[in-house]
Amino acid sequence: MLWAIFWVPIRYNKLIMFKNLFAAKPLSLILEEMKTGKRLNRVLGPWQLAGLGIGGIIGTGIFVLTGVAAHDKAGPALILSFVLAGVACIFAALCYAEFAAMVPVAGSAYTYAYATLGELFAWIIGWDLILEYTVASAAIAHGWSHYFQDFIGIFGISIPHILTNAPFDYSPVLGKLLATGTVCDFPAIVITFIVMGILIVGVQESASFNAAMVFVKLAVVLFVIVVGAFYIHPKNWIPFAPYGYTGISFFGKTIFGQTGPAGEPLGVFAGAAMIFFAYIGFDAVSTQAEEAIEPQTSVPFGIITSLIVCTFLYIAVTAVLTGMIPYKQINIDAPISEAFKQVGLPWAQGIISLGALAGITSVLLVMMLSQPRVFLAMARDGLLPRGFFAAIHDKFQTPYKATILTGVVVASMAALIPLRILAELVNIGTLLAFVIVCAAVLIMRKTHPHAARPFVCPMVPIVPILGIATCLLLMFSLPAENWWRLIIWLLIGLVIYFFYSRHNSVLAEERRRIAARQDPA
Ligand code: ALA
Repeated sequence: MLWAIFWVPIRYNKLIMFKNLFAAKPLSLILEEMKTGKRLNRVLGPWQLAGLGIGGIIGTGIFVLTGVAAHDKAGPALILSFVLAGVACIFAALCYAEFAAMVPVAGSAYTYAYATLGELFAWIIGWDLILEYTVASAAIAHGWSHYFQDFIGIFGISIPHILTNAPFDYSPVLGKLLATGTVCDFPAIVITFIVMGILIVGVQESASFNAAMVFVKLAVVLFVIVVGAFYIHPKNWIPFAPYGYTGISFFGKTIFGQTGPAGEPLGVFAGAAMIFFAYIGFDAVSTQAEEAIEPQTSVPFGIITSLIVCTFLYIAVTAVLTGMIPYKQINIDAPISEAFKQVGLPWAQGIISLGALAGITSVLLVMMLSQPRVFLAMARDGLLPRGFFAAIHDKFQTPYKATILTGVVVASMAALIPLRILAELVNIGTLLAFVIVCAAVLIMRKTHPHAARPFVCPMVPIVPILGIATCLLLMFSLPAENWWRLIIWLLIGLVIYFFYSRHNSVLAEERRRIAARQDPA
C-alpha cells in the first residue's frame, strides 16, 4: 500500500524530472562531517545512555495500556503479547545498534536511511519520526496530566474542571468529536514547558534529572512485582488465552483469530500491536549518539541493555497483574493501582501513582530530547531551514531553537487534541521506522561490506528479515484507520519535500555546483 505513494514519482520519473530522489548521502561524507562544524557536547557515558533508554521506555504503556490490552484484547496471554513485541523490538534494536555504532550522529533512523535508501526515504523517515517523538510527547503529556490529577486527588486537591482536559474528544462509537466542557489540559502544558526548560539548559542536566526519575520508577516497578507476587492466584491465569493466540488482521480485515464488537482483531498479536507503545523509546538512545563519550560501544550498550531490562520487567508486571485478579476485573484507567486496591492494599495507590508520574515524566523528557536532534540532523542536510533547526546555543550547547519549537508544538497538541487521536498515530509510525532501519542494515551490508562496524548485528540477514517481518505483522495487526492516518501524514510530508526540501538539500546544492562547473556557460 505504501508503495502507492512512491508510484507516481517513480512512474513519471523522466517526465517530471524527479531525478536524484534516491541519491544516498555517502557514508564517507557523514563520517567526515562528524569531525567538522559545531557539534553537540560529548558528555554521556554507557550507563547514562542505558538510563535514558529506560527513561524513554517505561511509562504510559505499562502503567495504563496493559489494562485495556489485558481486559479487551488478550487476557492473561498478554504476557505472550509482551514477549512477541519485545522480540520484534530486539531484532530492530540489534539493527539500530549496528547503525548507531557505525554512524554516531544525532539523526538516528533518518541518517541511516539517507546513507542507504537515499534522500526521499530519508525525508520520509525523518517526517515519520515526528509521529514517534512529537506526537508521542503530546500523548504522554496528556497521560501525565491524568496521573497528576489522580495523585493530587489523593490529598483532596483538584484543579478547575475547565483546565483538566482537551476541549473535545473523539467517540469511536459515534464516529464524531464531542465537546468535553473544558478549555484545555493545563497540567499538560505546564509539564511540557518544565521539561523543555530542562532540555535547553543541558543534556547532562537532563540525564541527571532522568536518572532520578528512572530510579523512582524502577523502585515502584520492582515493588509491584515483588509485593504483587504474594497475591498471585494461578487460577486467574485460566483460561490463559480467552481471545486466542492470534488476532492478525490485514487493513482492518481479521484473517486469523476472533474479532471484537467493532470488527477489530482480538488475541495475542492484537494485544502486542497495542502494547507495542510500551517499548517505544529504546531507539531514542540512538538520537543521543552525538552526545555519547564513546558512541561506538556505549550507544549499542545503551540500546540493548535498556530494552532487555524493560522486556523482563514488563513480562513480570503483566504476569503479576493478570495473576492477582481475573482479567475481566482489571481496571482500564489505572490497572496496576486498582489491582492492588482489589486485593486489599489500597495504600499502594499513592506509591504506584508516584512511580507512574516519575515514569511518564522521564518518557516525556527522552522523547522531547530526541525530536530536536532529528530536526538538527535534517537541517544540517538542508532538508529543513538550517538557521533555525540547526542553531546550537553558545552556552548550553543544545539545539535550543528546535527544542523550543518542539515544546510549543507538544504543549499546544497536548492542550487541545484528544489523547486517543494522538496515541493511535504513534505505534504505526514507529513500526515503519523500525522496518526501514532493518532494511537499511541489509542494504548497507551489500553496498558497504567493508565499512567499519564497531557493533555487528548477529546473524545477518536473518535478524533484519525477522525484524521486518515481525514489525510488519504488528503494523497489520493495528486497526485500518491507523494506516490511513499514516498515509495522509506521509502525503503532507511529501508535499513539503517536493516544494522545499528537495531544492534546498546540501546534496542538491552540491549537484548544482558540479553542473555549473561542467557547464560554465
Ligand atoms: N514507551 C513509552 C511509554 O510507554 C512511550 O510511555
